[in-house]
Amino acid sequence: MAYSDKVLDHYENPRNVGSMDKNDPSVGTGMVGAPACGDVMKLQIKVNEQGIIEDAKFKTYGCGSAIASSSLVTELIKGKSLDQAMEIKNSDIAEELALPPVKIHCSVLAEDAIRAAVADLKAKQGTKDEQAA
Ligand code: FES
Ligand code: FES
Repeated sequence: MAYSDKVLDHYENPRNVGSMDKNDPSVGTGMVGAPACGDVMKLQIKVNEQGIIEDAKFKTYGCGSAIASSSLVTELIKGKSLDQAMEIKNSDIAEELALPPVKIHCSVLAEDAIRAAVADLKAKQGTKDEQAA
């Protein structure tokens, strides 16, 4: 299967690989798995006081397309509000990376990871004071 240059670029030079402190009240963590293949993706977002995503990190145990999708997502969501981040669709990711049909679920995983990270952050922000050290 031929991968697009963009997939290879993100796969070979993934952006924003790493972890943030998941107990930080301004950090949301999304951990999702792909039923189709068992791959796992962790996406973390950090928001500033204005609710804008100022940093994002990922760790993906999966195929090249999943790594490329999560790398692209970290770039796409920085500078966005949570609502704007929620508007990113797997089709945007698949299109940007020119993923072949068999690899579409990798971009679905990335979309799921955004939703999970935002949901975690929203839940946390409602219960900020319970985050005991
Ligand atoms: Fe598991 Fe993609 S099928 S790495
Ligand atoms: Fe399963 Fe890419 S995430 S093959």
